Amino acid sequence: MDSIVVTGNGPLHGQIPIAGAKNTCLKLMCAALMSDAPVTLTNVPRLSDVLTLSQLLESLGCTVTLSDEGRELTLHAPEITNRKAHYDIVRKLRASFNVLGPLLGRTGEAIVSLPGGCAIGARKVDLHLMALEKLGAEIELREGYVHARAPGGLTGTEIEFPMVSVGATENALCAAVVAKGRTVLRNVAKEPDTVALAHCLSAMGAKIEGAGTDTMEIEGVASLSGVRHAVIPDRIELGTYMIVPAIAGGEVELLGGERRLVGALIDKLEEAGVTVEDTDAGLKVSRGSNRVRAVDVVTAPFPGFPTDLQAQMMALMCTAEGSSVLEETIFENRFMHAPELIRMGAEIDVHGGTATVKGVGRLKGAPVMATDLRASVSLILAGLAAEGETVVNRVYHLDRGYERLEDKLSAVGAKVERIRT
Ligand code: EPZ
Repeated sequence: MDSIVVTGNGPLHGQIPIAGAKNTCLKLMCAALMSDAPVTLTNVPRLSDVLTLSQLLESLGCTVTLSDEGRELTLHAPEITNRKAHYDIVRKLRASFNVLGPLLGRTGEAIVSLPGGCAIGARKVDLHLMALEKLGAEIELREGYVHARAPGGLTGTEIEFPMVSVGATENALCAAVVAKGRTVLRNVAKEPDTVALAHCLSAMGAKIEGAGTDTMEIEGVASLSGVRHAVIPDRIELGTYMIVPAIAGGEVELLGGERRLVGALIDKLEEAGVTVEDTDAGLKVSRGSNRVRAVDVVTAPFPGFPTDLQAQMMALMCTAEGSSVLEETIFENRFMHAPELIRMGAEIDVHGGTATVKGVGRLKGAPVMATDLRASVSLILAGLAAEGETVVNRVYHLDRGYERLEDKLSAVGAKVERIRT
C-alpha cells in the first residue's frame, strides 16, 4: 500500500489546476443510463472512483469509452441488459447507489445493493426510498438489496424532504424527470453537484425548474436524448488547495477556481487573515508571515461550510493563533482525523459533534493514518506546515478524490513524495 511522505518546507508559490468535480462526474455518469443515446462528459477527473463506477455501468449494459487521456468519457447504454447493481461495487463506492433512480426511471425496475455503513457515519438511504415510493415505486429490502419496481411507470407527486440529502435529491430528480406528470421536490439539496446534474438532465431534454433553490419542479418527459456536457470544477479539491498557502504560507493561484463554489470557505479564510483574490484564470490565495487567526466553523448543506472541507479546516486551525470550535452537523462520525492530528502535536478536544482546537503554531511530523478521503488530505495539509517528516499511510483513499496530488503540490514547491511499501 502506498504512503505519502511530506516534509514541511515553508512558504509555497505557484499555480495549481483544478480538475473536474468527482461528485458531479459520478452523478452525471449514473444519469447517462437514462438515455439510449451516447452521453459524453468532458473535464472528467482522473480518479479511481470514476473507474470503479465505470465497471458498474458496464455491468448494466453501458459501454464506457475514455479518451483525451482520460479527460473525456463517453457512456452509451442503448439497452439496459442487467438491472442489478452488485454489492461488490456499491460497498466500495457509495455514489453507485445513484444508479437506483436512473435504472428505475428508465426500465421500471432496479435491484441495487444497500451500501452499508461507512467510516464517517451510518449514511442511511431512507430518504431515497421514501421519495421513490412517493413516485409510485414498490420497494422491498431483501438480502441486502433494494428491489424497486414500477411496472406501470412512475407518477409525478409532491415530496418534501425532512432534511437535505444530496444523494436522495439526485435519485428522486432522476426518477421524476421521466415520471408521468408534474413532480414538486421541496427542501432539496442546492449543492453545485446537484445543480450540475439538473443542468445536464435539462440538456438531455428533461424539464426542470428551480435547480439551485429549495424547490424543484419537474414535468416528466417520455425519454432523454444524448448530450455532450462539461463537468464543473471540483469545489472540494479547490477548497483543499486554497488551504495550502493558508497553512504553509505563500501565494498559490488555483486555475479554474470559482468564488461561487467556495463562498463559505472564502468567508472563513478571510476572517482568519488569509487573502483571496479573483484573477483572470481563477482565484489567488495568499498569507504572509502572520499566523492565521482562529475562526469557528459549523458545517451545513450548501451554501454553508461543506462537511467535505471540515477536516482540512481543522488542520489549518491547529496552526492558528487562539482557539476555534468546529461543529460537524452533517455526519455523526467525521472527526477521525483529530487523533491523527494530535499525534502531530495538535491540541484538540472532541465532544460529540464538536471539536475545540487550540492553535499550537507549528505541528510536528509523525507517521499517521487516515480512514477516509478528506481526513487523509487534511493530514497532508498538516504535514506541509509541520516541522520534519509526516508519513501518511493508507493513501488509496486519496486516489479516490485527488488526481496527481503529489505533482500538484510539488509544482508549488512542496516536498511531497509517494513511496510504495
Ligand atoms: C454526498 O454524500 C457526497 N458524496 C459527500 O461527499 C458529501 O459529504 C455529502 O453529500 C454532503 O455534502 C457524493 O456526492 C458522492 P447526504 P451523500 O445524503 O449524498 C443523512 C466526499 O468526501 N441521510 O447529503 O451520501 C446522512 O446519513 C463525500 O466526497 C439520511 O439520514 O450525503 C447524512 O448524515 C463524503 N437518510 C446526511 O443525511 C438518507 O436517506 C447528509 O447526507 C440520506 C441521507
